Amino acid sequence: MYKIERPQDEIAIKVETPLIYDLQRISLKDDPSKFCVMPKTFIEKGIERIKNMKVYEDDIWIVTFPKCGTTWAQEMIWMIGNDLDYVTSAKTSLDERFPFLEMSWLGPGIPFDLFELVQDMSRPRYIKSHLPYFLLPDQLWTVKPKIIYVVRNAKDAAVSWYHHHINLHGYQGTKEDFFEAFAKDLVPYAPINEHIIDFWKIRDQPNILFLFFEDMKRNLDQEVKKTMKFLGKNFSQEEIDKLCQHLSFESVRNNKTVNKDEHLKVLMELVGQKYQPKDGFSFIRKGKIGGYKDELTDEQIEMMENYANHDGLKKIGFKYKL
Ligand code: A3P
Repeated sequence: MYKIERPQDEIAIKVETPLIYDLQRISLKDDPSKFCVMPKTFIEKGIERIKNMKVYEDDIWIVTFPKCGTTWAQEMIWMIGNDLDYVTSAKTSLDERFPFLEMSWLGPGIPFDLFELVQDMSRPRYIKSHLPYFLLPDQLWTVKPKIIYVVRNAKDAAVSWYHHHINLHGYQGTKEDFFEAFAKDLVPYAPINEHIIDFWKIRDQPNILFLFFEDMKRNLDQEVKKTMKFLGKNFSQEEIDKLCQHLSFESVRNNKTVNKDEHLKVLMELVGQKYQPKDGFSFIRKGKIGGYKDELTDEQIEMMENYANHDGLKKIGFKYKL
């Protein structure tokens, strides 16, 4: 079913990190346009378990390419789905309330089993995944639980992934190598463009809600209302205003159950590095639209623009928002 190969380009090796390594390109034998770069541990331990996992119709899934505002949207979705339960949100980490399905298999050294946690969760389960359509559970497409897909423009997502790679995976390589690898679809979870295509095609199905990071940033009230409607909830404008405040950049950044401060420390200890955020890094970092312009050279911007100007996206009428 799958073709699994080690990417030949040496840049693929250069972007490996102490946490995520042995990257492989997984593609579908009968449709090579479906592919994804993932570590060998995922292939050995996770791929089949996820493909065959039981899905319930009352599950609530979030699927994104990394760094598209997943955490932010997770808190929004969880709060709406749980009737604005600020008490539980304040005392239970988002990672526990809304676990990251495949995380345990991103590196061989990760000592917790989030897949098992998902199996044992009380329903309705809230589940996060960054996997592309073709690697997600088969039952997602037959049982059809609610799925929220969040997208962000590829340039900002790439910059955010670069900082994540340094501060959470222990990446020691250069910025040039990272962006070259991103534009060649050689970083973990690549490619972003094809990831989007599959979900854009099904965005009108009743169990799918397709959101943009940029819309959340520009008009959170509107995106909260869309999500409420999708989850069958109704709150007063006062309650919505309070939720928008709870979801503001500053509030999320200072929110200990959401901002992943603890998570960062655990991951860096796993790769044997003392936790020292580079450039004052915080997981909730800048949260800007177009922040890539402050961080990339003209040459890198051009390379990323060419990358984002993807024929497959044009063909289906999808445009990144900026
Ligand atoms: P930056 O690194 O560009 O700042 P994910 O959760 O998918 O890993 O995405 C993380 C990105 O979402 C980070 O982007 C982070 O700052 C941004 N983000 C998280 N909460 C936010 C908020 N309330 N407002 C704006 N951006 C937010």
